[in-house]
Amino acid sequence: MKITVLGLGYIGLPTALLFGRSGHEVVGMDVNQTVVDSLNGGVLHFEEKGLQELFDQAKGHFTAQNTVPEADVFVIAVPTPLNKSLRVADLSYVRAAAAMIAQVVKEYNLVVLESTVPPGASERIVIPILERSGLSRSEFFYAHCPERAIPGNTILEMVFNDRIIGGIDQESGMLASEVYSSFVRGSIHVTNVRNAEFIKLLENTYRDVNIALANELAKIAEESGINIWNAIELANKHPRCAILKPGPGVGGHCIAIDPWFITENSTKTGIIHLSRDINDSMPNFVIHLLRGVLKGVKDPMVTVLGVSYKGDVGDTRESPALKFIQLCENEGYGIKCYDPFVNAFDYPLFELDPALSDSDCIVLISDHLVFQQIDPSKVQMRRKNVIDTRNILDPQKWKAHGFTVKIMGNGGLEPQGPEELLTEVSDPVMDNKVIPL
Ligand SMILES: NC(=O)c1ccc[n+]([C@@H]2O[C@H](COP(=O)([O-])OP(=O)(O)OC[C@H]3O[C@@H](n4cnc5c(N)ncnc54)[C@H](O)[C@@H]3O)[C@@H](O)[C@H]2O)c1
Repeated sequence: MKITVLGLGYIGLPTALLFGRSGHEVVGMDVNQTVVDSLNGGVLHFEEKGLQELFDQAKGHFTAQNTVPEADVFVIAVPTPLNKSLRVADLSYVRAAAAMIAQVVKEYNLVVLESTVPPGASERIVIPILERSGLSRSEFFYAHCPERAIPGNTILEMVFNDRIIGGIDQESGMLASEVYSSFVRGSIHVTNVRNAEFIKLLENTYRDVNIALANELAKIAEESGINIWNAIELANKHPRCAILKPGPGVGGHCIAIDPWFITENSTKTGIIHLSRDINDSMPNFVIHLLRGVLKGVKDPMVTVLGVSYKGDVGDTRESPALKFIQLCENEGYGIKCYDPFVNAFDYPLFELDPALSDSDCIVLISDHLVFQQIDPSKVQMRRKNVIDTRNILDPQKWKAHGFTVKIMGNGGLEPQGPEELLTEVSDPVMDNKVIPL
């Protein structure tokens, strides 16, 4: 089959290459000429686990260009950012991509929208633009196949995750399912378009609301003299309890955005917007902790460990680090950032030693596991303070070298080493004993 994928970013490029590796003739189309030139020159324009191998395997089945050629299948994987001031989806890229396809689409072609959109956007926006081709809705096939892969493990998840495919009609759903089954090894569940749009948003909204609960619990624990990490671990021993971890805020291209998409046409929102607010307030909460540590320090300097929105990836989109740094600046603190995964950021990035040398406090924002390898005996700082918002450092190790360690949500309690958090006392015999009431 001839497949054209519009948008060669984090989602479009791996998707195009997976189709290519499966033997389809794939054209990747992107409006960014630098991306097109880089890929045609054999160079990837971003890093992702396994992407180079996939690129090599798709050789001969993939080329890039900046115009949309005729094809059997068109896949739209362009950005759908949030308009931050209005808190509504910006569908301008999707509109532009659909208009380009309308120039070349033919009868019986399949158009697939992978980009995340508010419920109803396919029927209200995308299909009417495609109909400008002169074809009516029943003369081409249309499906929404939302992408649910996670950065850092995108390729494996694109192949092995279950897939939701929403067809505008039965034939469209079945055809899209057949096309995607060329590389998807998870189950494919076919539903209607509006359902598929809603389900994608629902998944990320579920995560956001549950993270908000963990964050609110962390704040309560801080005031109540409770170590939230220990408390959550023990609560999760209950078979129907699965509380997520708190953190310095929620970022990334999906979880912090999709709740706004799912609610943009609704008057029935409460917990979803509240959860967004709670998660957005976490950088303020971290600043509050930092103020306590830096009280009385003249011209304080802060080292931010990790600026990506989560551990072990270099993606800084919507990262809570951005708000945290801005708040630090407003507080009058100097900032030095270190992130071994990030190449470019809104603020200068330093190597580890220079980021630490004149610092008064480390604030760990991203849970990169490599931070656990930092040897506190070799850390040279002006003052030895650490705030760990992810609870990934071993506080005993740092304390042994003269550091004060504050773990966000530990209720002001003396930090415990990970191995000391829990003492298992369960006894299978005792646990089964019937205790008379
Ligand atoms: N990145 C993720 O982890 C992720 C996960 C699930 C869903 N999504 C969704 O997938 C969609 C794509 O996201 P992404 O992260 O791949 O974006 P991205 O910013 O990484 O890449 C998008 C690419 O599209 C190109 N583009 C813009 N307008 C175009 C047009 N009219 N025609 C052709 N190319 C165009 C841009 O130049 C860019 O290279 C979004 O809707 C996003 O919400 C992303």
